[in-house]
Amino acid sequence: MVVLSSPIKQLKEQLIIAPFLRSIRKPHLALSALHQKHGDLVLASFFTKKMLCICHPDHVEEIYIQEAKGLLNRDFLYEAKKSFFADSLFNSKAETWVKQRRLMQPLFTREAISQWQNIFINEAEITREKLKATTATEINLSCEIKKLVQRIIIKTLLGRSADTIPNNEALIQTIDVISQCLLPQLVTQIISNGKLMWFMPIKKWQYQKAVLKLADFISQEIALKREHLGHDLISQMMQATDSKSGYTMPQELLQDEMVNLFFASQDTTINTLAWFFYLLGKNQAVHNKVTAEIMKFRDDALTTANLEKLVYTKAALNETLRLYPPSGGITSLAVEDITVGGYNIKKGTTILLSLFVTHRHSALWECPNEFYPEHFINPQLTTELYKYAFYPFGGGLHNCLGRHFAELEMMIVIVTLLREFTFKTDDTIKEAASITLKPDRDVILSIKPLGKNAN
Ligand code: HEM
Repeated sequence: MVVLSSPIKQLKEQLIIAPFLRSIRKPHLALSALHQKHGDLVLASFFTKKMLCICHPDHVEEIYIQEAKGLLNRDFLYEAKKSFFADSLFNSKAETWVKQRRLMQPLFTREAISQWQNIFINEAEITREKLKATTATEINLSCEIKKLVQRIIIKTLLGRSADTIPNNEALIQTIDVISQCLLPQLVTQIISNGKLMWFMPIKKWQYQKAVLKLADFISQEIALKREHLGHDLISQMMQATDSKSGYTMPQELLQDEMVNLFFASQDTTINTLAWFFYLLGKNQAVHNKVTAEIMKFRDDALTTANLEKLVYTKAALNETLRLYPPSGGITSLAVEDITVGGYNIKKGTTILLSLFVTHRHSALWECPNEFYPEHFINPQLTTELYKYAFYPFGGGLHNCLGRHFAELEMMIVIVTLLREFTFKTDDTIKEAASITLKPDRDVILSIKPLGKNAN
């Protein structure tokens, strides 16, 4: 009798404790060290938990394909995420997610997003004018960007100026607290079903308080909107109807989606813009090239078509997202046996896409740890070879709904400020522990008006 050896290989398990614990505080560094030691595919075990850590773009693609077939899903973190994400797109289970995503998708296409363009421009101009009026030679860029991004989201989402909201700065603080506390909340859930969170009572309390505060604020805004519908995003979501099924958004899901849009749209873009200006401030040669390109088109209106001419500026923004993707990792669970890289991975294994590690993979990028926008000018090296060498907005079914919103908003902010100023810093800033990859302190930059004759 011929015994056929199975073509499916078994991946060796690595018993890993220290990196798992370290990942509560610095997940991106823990994962980098893990992949450096054990390779592109690591099957890590921590007591009874098994986690497959993935950083090669081909393996990422295999995961997304199998997720689309229903072999993986995101439901396993439902309870851990429920305290904040509730039943929004970030957490809803299959049937609800499909209905909600179909309903919201048309409001986030490139065309639909262009309706917010004037808001992005007006709010960026308010910040520009404020900075023009300052006599200071140094600014707290993080602080200015937080205020600007919040003004933008309040105007688009709620249809009113941030100036009409009493104590709106406290809301910025709320976003910061949630962002910092969500990471231990989720990691402790993955590795200990939440038990380790009992050792962080203050964090737990701060988190609960901030979540309640944000939920209260949004529910009051929804109540106001029910009396006076407008053209803002809440009103559009209230009126959206699925043309095939007639489905409209239930009240409680509207609350969940609004809370999450309010959070996701700020934390991600604030961090990306802070890193972007920090990196320009540190790399004057790149800064000069970006400024030269922007000044070449200085009289162009800030339309999507005109912004596409700014190839190098967009490359610098992508390079920022490569080095500091706000979401450094994406998790799911194999609900059936799956195959990755020819290996059989058992049902019940947690899958972690180490996006941060892929983005700095030495086999993929010419200068993995440097700020080198040319990576996106000669993309045949990486992004054309591998679909998922660069995927800051995720991929597959759950790709970022707000991608076009974020890209247009960030480009408008960047161009508006760089038409007027140059920035510089000698500071060295590292990544902080949080649900998104943020600078470990405020970005302080010296600021100079751009000479009128700059080109
Ligand atoms: C620099 C900006 C941004 C980045 C890098 C980013 C990144 C991401 C990533 C990686 C995911 C996928 C997570 C996963 O697969 O589990 C995601 C999902 C999502 N993002 Fe963004 N995001 C950004 C801005 C925004 C903005 C501005 C909005 C809203 C206006 C938004 C709304 C969402 C939503 C609703 C989802 C969930 C999609 C779903 O599961 O169906 N994002 N984002």
